[in-house]
Amino acid sequence: MKHDFIYEALPTRVVFGEGKLAALPDEIKRLNASRALVLCTPNQLEWARQVAAVLGPECVGIFSQAAMHTPVEVTELAMEQVRQLNADSVIGLGGGSTIGLGKAIALRTGLPQVAVPTTYAGSEMTPILGQTENGVKTTQRTPIVLPKTVIYDVALTLSLPASLSATSGLNAMAHAVEALYAQNANPVVSLMAEEGIGALAQSLPNIIGDPSDRNARAQAQYGAWLCGICLGSAGMALHHKLCHVLGGRFNLPHAETHAIMLPHTAAYNAPHAAQAMQRAARALNAESVGDGLWTLARRIKAPQALRAIGLPEAGIEQATELAMKNPYWNPRPLDKEGIRALIRRAWAGEAPRP
Ligand SMILES: [Fe+2]
Repeated sequence: MKHDFIYEALPTRVVFGEGKLAALPDEIKRLNASRALVLCTPNQLEWARQVAAVLGPECVGIFSQAAMHTPVEVTELAMEQVRQLNADSVIGLGGGSTIGLGKAIALRTGLPQVAVPTTYAGSEMTPILGQTENGVKTTQRTPIVLPKTVIYDVALTLSLPASLSATSGLNAMAHAVEALYAQNANPVVSLMAEEGIGALAQSLPNIIGDPSDRNARAQAQYGAWLCGICLGSAGMALHHKLCHVLGGRFNLPHAETHAIMLPHTAAYNAPHAAQAMQRAARALNAESVGDGLWTLARRIKAPQALRAIGLPEAGIEQATELAMKNPYWNPRPLDKEGIRALIRRAWAGEAPRP
């Protein structure tokens, strides 16, 4: 371990435990707020109504049109409601889409947000906001968008379907794996990364066996929280770059793409980040990080081939070219042959190779 690092704790208050949604009114008061607007996607409106009921008079309304990639038009609509209702806080109930909207409102108003995550994506622990305008996504990192409070209530994850739990969980693990070998890795975040990988590796197979297993769900949510901290603290490298290329150019589904790519990108980097990837392998209880992730993905029935989620064979070459275009830091230098072979294996659904 190198004793030469920068560590910065992000000041989010985390309230963790089954039934903790009931603490919401107190948490809103703690922020000196009393007029909260609840945010959700159209699918989660029923839950948002329950949250509004928990809040009682402290809730001034619900905005239920949160959408993927945080389109600016949607944020503008929500902003109208914020102004009309004179809201003094927002509550983001849901996954990346809703939490992104809460951040976009915070960016424009400085209003405090409480995030109530229902998936394992981890965005609630980060000061990162991605917004889409005219089809172009731009990402920024600014402390004002970091939620003030996050409530992790396992009850809200019990109905997350098994398949989504698997891909969302692997997507979360990717943040921890990349944090372990990040250029700005530090020993504290690495501890969280290893713990986060271990918690998800243990719990996800149990969730697939029984999606209503509360212990497994709590352990997965704990792991997802830690992986969210990793995403907020460490720079991301090859894995995220490749998934970005695949998602952006071929419109592949987000969590599935991450789930398929992770064993391959980890195996590619492992020889050049031996210590870091040994820690990941240890957390996975496996010989190597690539094998451990590959076996886990198979056990939890996550998709394992890019061709099964819509990547045409010609896309292998295109993605390779795109991935080589803008150089960026990665523990192992990018070599075109290696990247092409990696993407081909991921496309075909073959096991990873270092
Ligand atoms: Fe990510």
